[in-house]
Amino acid sequence: MQLAAMEPRLPELQAAQTRSPSDNSKQNNYEAGLIMSIAYLNGSYMPLEEARISPLDRGFLFGDGIYEVIPYYNGRSVGLIPHIQRMIDGLAAIEIDAGRSVEQWKTLLDDLVARNSDINHNLGVYVHVSRGADTKRFHAYPEGVEATVFAFCFAIKDPALVDRTAVTPVSVNTTQDLRWQRCHIKSTSLLGNVIHYQEGHSAGNGEILLYNADNQLTEASSSNAFIVKDGKIITPVQDNQILPGITRRIIIDSIKADGSLEIEERVVTMDEVHNADEIWVTSSSKEIAPVTSLDGKPVGNGEVGEVWEKAFSIYTNAKFDY
Ligand code: PDD
Repeated sequence: MQLAAMEPRLPELQAAQTRSPSDNSKQNNYEAGLIMSIAYLNGSYMPLEEARISPLDRGFLFGDGIYEVIPYYNGRSVGLIPHIQRMIDGLAAIEIDAGRSVEQWKTLLDDLVARNSDINHNLGVYVHVSRGADTKRFHAYPEGVEATVFAFCFAIKDPALVDRTAVTPVSVNTTQDLRWQRCHIKSTSLLGNVIHYQEGHSAGNGEILLYNADNQLTEASSSNAFIVKDGKIITPVQDNQILPGITRRIIIDSIKADGSLEIEERVVTMDEVHNADEIWVTSSSKEIAPVTSLDGKPVGNGEVGEVWEKAFSIYTNAKFDY
């Protein structure tokens, strides 16, 4: 039973790859609860509603784990190998051994997407590895405990059109970054991020930009941040204050490879943020979202910028190569 459930289902994946993006009925049925998401938990597949973990799981008690969110559009992933590599690096950083190679992770995730292809033509995959369920609550890393591996799929929207007059912009506010000093680790301990996101949400915004004690931009609560000034794209340097975003990496690399726009990684002050011509927030689910309102004031001329459109076009053409 379990073996059959584990078999790769590549024909379904290929079918998902050719599906028409105009068919929204599956997503509607999924959102109405008529189609169930199939989850993966510790080697077995099951309806998401039936997945169960122990209350002594360290992911539950301590937020002791690493996660990823990976987009698949019509069965084609964006940045799958970089996402897997970042997860493997994060697991190594906190000494969790999930016992899987890059290739084994790829097979697991592609297979899960294939099993969920009736939900929607675009899917996000959430994958989560915690240190596992101990027999007691004790802070030190336990020995001999097997990691908990959990993954499920959810419907995601079609990408925005490469058209500055058609895209829906985001408004943001700003606050001091009060998270921890290991933001480069994609930890499931997200309370710091959640509190910041809620500050933005409660103020009616779609994101919140964060700055450090030196008044320098770090990132946003669930995305990386970019500014544009005089045609040049600038984003904070990669250090422990920000997540090494896969979307951020694809943007930087594809823009450098294209060569028609200037892009720089350096310290960005909040003065520069407030005087920017354009601001973008980027993530696997948002792709490149233009920001037109900052702390209640227009960004630049208050319209989505031309550099956004050029950069988003370059990104859109390159994203499946990563
Ligand atoms: N968020 N910074 C933070 C704090 C994030 O949580 C994310 C992603 C990013 C962008 O990373 P990427 O481009 O690899 O998605 C930056 C995910 C999507 C989430 O928590 O749902």
